[in-house]
Amino acid sequence: MSSNKNKRPLRSQAWFGGDDKDSFIHRSWMKNQGYPSDAFDGRPVIGICNTWSELTPCNGHFRDLAEMVKRGVLEAGGFPVEFPVMSLGETNLRPTAMLFRNLASMDVEESIRANPIDGVVLLTGCDKTTPALLMGAASVDLPTIVLSGGPMLNGNYRGKPIGSGTDVWKFSEDVRAGRMTSNEFKQAESCMSRSAGHCMTMGTASTMASMVEALGVTLPGNAAIPAVDARRKLQAQLTGRRIVDMVHEDLKLSQILTREAFENAIMVNGAIGGSTNAVIHLLAIAGRIGVDMRLGDWDRLGRDIPCLLNLMPSGQYLMEDFYYAGGLPVIIRDLLGKLHGEALTVTGASMAVNVAEAENFNPEVITPLAQPFKDEGGIAVLHGNLAPRGAVIKPSAASPELMQHRGRAVVFNSIEHYKKRVDDPALDIDASCVMVLQNCGPQGYPGMAEVGNMGLPKKLLEQGVRDMVRISDARMSGTAYGTVVLHVAPEAAVGGPLALVRDGDMIELDVAGRRLHLDVDEAELARRRAEWSAPPPAMKGGYQSMYIKHVTQADEGADLDFLVGCRGSAVPRESH
Ligand code: FES
Repeated sequence: MSSNKNKRPLRSQAWFGGDDKDSFIHRSWMKNQGYPSDAFDGRPVIGICNTWSELTPCNGHFRDLAEMVKRGVLEAGGFPVEFPVMSLGETNLRPTAMLFRNLASMDVEESIRANPIDGVVLLTGCDKTTPALLMGAASVDLPTIVLSGGPMLNGNYRGKPIGSGTDVWKFSEDVRAGRMTSNEFKQAESCMSRSAGHCMTMGTASTMASMVEALGVTLPGNAAIPAVDARRKLQAQLTGRRIVDMVHEDLKLSQILTREAFENAIMVNGAIGGSTNAVIHLLAIAGRIGVDMRLGDWDRLGRDIPCLLNLMPSGQYLMEDFYYAGGLPVIIRDLLGKLHGEALTVTGASMAVNVAEAENFNPEVITPLAQPFKDEGGIAVLHGNLAPRGAVIKPSAASPELMQHRGRAVVFNSIEHYKKRVDDPALDIDASCVMVLQNCGPQGYPGMAEVGNMGLPKKLLEQGVRDMVRISDARMSGTAYGTVVLHVAPEAAVGGPLALVRDGDMIELDVAGRRLHLDVDEAELARRRAEWSAPPPAMKGGYQSMYIKHVTQADEGADLDFLVGCRGSAVPRESH
């Protein structure tokens, strides 16, 4: 071990560096874990912020990964200390993990600030763990590096690759349409999730792992290395080494999370066909670090970005294939003509330098810029009288023939109403209709659940219908697909125009024109508005009440209003 190279007083020395009673207490109690005195001699204390939990299966291997980070920290002369924070398991948390993203971010922020930590490694994996940890860390602004846990190996069912989430939606519609037995459905469970790691489609976890790499807050190559590949352990060790140097260099998160970095991430999201959830998460992270990013930036920057990556749900391959093809550095290198290549990253070098030696080993998986997999990769932001503050759609996952569509609304005023009604043989609906779901936004659900990709009515599935236009104030899983308009703002529960739609209204979707229009005259809408009353809140008391009271709309990142901004790392000295 070697102590602080730069002789700049480290933050942790305010706890460990003195000769008084408080310093005795700080050191003595730490020593009950067997640390020697020289552990407190001024070397960088590195917090390893761990979202391990057996209830977050995607992060179930994180205790092993943390050990590899510690190895790297020790090698570089730092003092590693691992600490747990609230973990968000997408598949188990009810009513939705998104309800707790902001709560977990508070845990992260306060845990970092309150403790004797000089630099932080964020261990992230399952969907919400990445934004939650980065939001919390951004509000403190210490030297910070992210290590993703990596995707699962490819799923394989009856000799064919299957993807997390994406094939669940397909299989469940096959069962409803009578093409798959329920026994076969059950067999597919262990064929889909067959190793440690997060979803291996380009769902929200893989998207956010790519976003943090594109933001420059991970070592290059972070996003795609499979969780169980030995090179993931190596990445962890190198991450541990690097954070110690970042502390010596005083390289803070705010020097990396600049406006240029966010613009890079938005463009990369287009090129990977990333999840619509990235929109909300990046808006929230930007709000924490003080970058003025708007929903419109997604359209402006992503509009001309083609989708280069042939991965489910937009395409056919999976994250393991992406890694073998060269991973995200290839995409970033190919986009350098559009990106801010000079953006600083955690390596201390620019993004352009980091990816200079990237090579594409499989142009079927990572298609060349001149012959992209799909012409339109970015997220389209729609406006109109149905979404005055915007709505989003992912064109690469939608049906081209539905991108311009006029149809009759069939309205569900809650997810329960949808479930009760959707398979009713008497439901007046055909393939040209527009399915509208209300009251599933940030306040309405609450937590803006991933229910926007409503399953189609059974009777239409049996007729062979595979996609319809669906509109809601909800989100959808990054593993899902379809012509699905999401994040309508303002949401129905606060009286947005979505609340005023009635069965039989005509709705126009024009993705090329970025328009979402409810074809009902203003006088009638005013009449309905006067009649409207807010639905009763779903929860009374506790965190959920605070969430409903303070959550912002989707176009602002659905953060809690009082959490927006960076509050720094200063903390008053306590006295025992
Ligand atoms: Fe955890 Fe998909 S459920 S990443």
